[in-house]
Amino acid sequence: MSSTKEAWGSRLGLILAMAGNSVGLGNFLRFPVQAINNGGGTFIIPYLVCFVLMGIPLLWIEWSMGRFGGRHGHHSTPFILNSMSSKPIWKYIGVFGIFTNIAVAAYYCYIESWTLSYAIHSIKGTFSSLSQSSIALFFDDYINLSTSFLGIPSEAVFFFIICVVINTYILSKGLAGIEKVAKIGMPLLILFGIFLAFKGLTIGTTAVSEQFPLANAWDGLNYLWTPQYDSLLRPGIWLAAAGQIFFTLSVGMGTIHCYAAYVKSKDDIALNATTAGFTNEFVEIVLGSLIVIPIAAGYFGLDWIKEHMSFGMAFQTMPFLFNQWGAVLASVAGVFWFGLLFFAGITSSLAMGTPWMGFMSDEFGWNKIKGAISFGLMVLALGLPCVLFYKYGYFEQYDYWAGTVSLVIFALAETILFAWIFGLTKGWKEITTGADMTVPTIFKFIIKYITPVLLIGVFLGALITPVNNNWIDAFSYLTTNGSWPFDGQSLILQITNTEKYHALSLATDPQAIE
Ligand code: PHE
Ligand code: NA
Repeated sequence: MSSTKEAWGSRLGLILAMAGNSVGLGNFLRFPVQAINNGGGTFIIPYLVCFVLMGIPLLWIEWSMGRFGGRHGHHSTPFILNSMSSKPIWKYIGVFGIFTNIAVAAYYCYIESWTLSYAIHSIKGTFSSLSQSSIALFFDDYINLSTSFLGIPSEAVFFFIICVVINTYILSKGLAGIEKVAKIGMPLLILFGIFLAFKGLTIGTTAVSEQFPLANAWDGLNYLWTPQYDSLLRPGIWLAAAGQIFFTLSVGMGTIHCYAAYVKSKDDIALNATTAGFTNEFVEIVLGSLIVIPIAAGYFGLDWIKEHMSFGMAFQTMPFLFNQWGAVLASVAGVFWFGLLFFAGITSSLAMGTPWMGFMSDEFGWNKIKGAISFGLMVLALGLPCVLFYKYGYFEQYDYWAGTVSLVIFALAETILFAWIFGLTKGWKEITTGADMTVPTIFKFIIKYITPVLLIGVFLGALITPVNNNWIDAFSYLTTNGSWPFDGQSLILQITNTEKYHALSLATDPQAIE
C-alpha cells in the first residue's frame, strides 16, 4: 500500500479535479447531439429527472464508497468494493471497472487528440481560407489518415501518440499532476466557454449564404428549452437521457471512487460531490448548449441542424462558422473552441488512468512511473485499432459496450452493494459523515428503492430496444403479432449511436456550401 499517503492538496484542487473528471468531451460533443436528435424540448425533462434520481444518488454513493475504501488503504474499485462486502464477486466486478476505464480511454484519447491537432491548426490558420466543403473534407482526410503534419505522415496517428504521451507524463506525476492540470484547465475552459457562448448568443439573425433561409441563433435554444411533456411516455428518450447522465457525470466506471479514495476520512463528501456534479451540469446545459447549437442555428438555420447534428459538426462545421468573424477572431475562436475541448478531454482521460494506477500501486507496489507507462501502452494498443479502422465502425462498438452498457451494469451492481448489502444505515452514515450540507432524507428512500429500480429499467430497456429505437411501432407489432420485434444486431446499437453513424456519412458526403 505504497500510495496511502497520497492526498489531494486542497479542497479546491479536489473539486476542480472531480469537476474535470466529469466535465469532458461528453458535455460539448455528446450532449448537444443527444439533445437535438431526441427532439430538444422532449429530451430535457427526462434528462433532468435522471440527473436527480440517478445522477446525484450515484455521485454520493461513489464518493462515499471511495472514501470508505481509502480509509482502509484501497484506491481502486476491486478492493474498494471488497472492503464493503467480502464476497469474492465484488472484487471481480471491481476489476471489470478497471478495464472499462482502459477501454473507454482508448477511444476517448483518440477524439482528444483530434482537438489537440485542430487547436494547432487553428493557430496556424489552416482553416482560415477554406470553404465549408474543404473543411469537411479535411476532417474526412484526417480520419482516413491521409493528412500530414509538418512532413509527418498520418497526422491522426501522430497526434494520438502525442496525446497518450502527454497523459502518461501527467499521470506519472501522481495526484499533484492531475490537480495542477485541473487548476489550469478548468478555469480556462470556463473562460473560453463563456466567450464562445457570448459570441453564440449575439450572432442574432443572419445567414451564411443565399442558399440558407434567414436563420436565427435563438431558434436552436428555443427548440431545446421548450419542454414537451409527451416525451415522458417515450422509452427511447428516457434511455438516451439516462445514458447521457451516466456518461457525462462519469459514474459507473470507478474514476470517482478512485479520486475520492484520496479524501481524508472525515472530510466532507456530500457538498463536494454536489458541487462537482452541478459544475458539470452548468458546463453541460449552459455552456454545452450555448456554443454549437446557436452558432450553427444562427448561420444555417434550425432545420439544417436537426438534419445534420452529429459530433463531427464540432470539427467539420465550427471552423467554417468561425471564419465568418474575420481572420483574427476566427483563429482566436478556433483556439478557444478546440482548446476548451482539449482541456475538457484531458482532465477526463487522466481520471480514467487512476483506477489502474491505484490498483497496481496498492496491490503490487508499482511506482507511478511504471503505472503510468503501462497504462499508456495499453491505451496505445487498444486505441490504435480505433485510429486505423475508425471508418469501419470500431469506434462505435467500443463506445457502445465500454462507454454505455458497462456503465449501467456497474452502477446497478454498486447501488445494490451500497444500499442492500453494505446496507443503507451504514451507507447513509458514510454519506453524511463530515457533510457540510444537509442531505435531504428523501434520498434515503431514493437510493434504496428508486435508483436501483430505474437502473434495472434502463438495463432491461436497453436490451429490448427495438430497431431504430421505434417503440411505438414495436408496441403495435407486439399487439398484432404477439412478439417483440427484436433485431439482434441493431437492437443495441440504435440507442446511442445513430448520431455517430450520421457523423460517418457526413464525413464521406461533406455539405457542399460554397
Ligand atoms: N464524463 C466524461 C465526459 O463527459 C467522460 C468520462 C466517463 C470520464 C467516465 C471519466 C469516466 O466526457
Ligand atoms: Na461530463
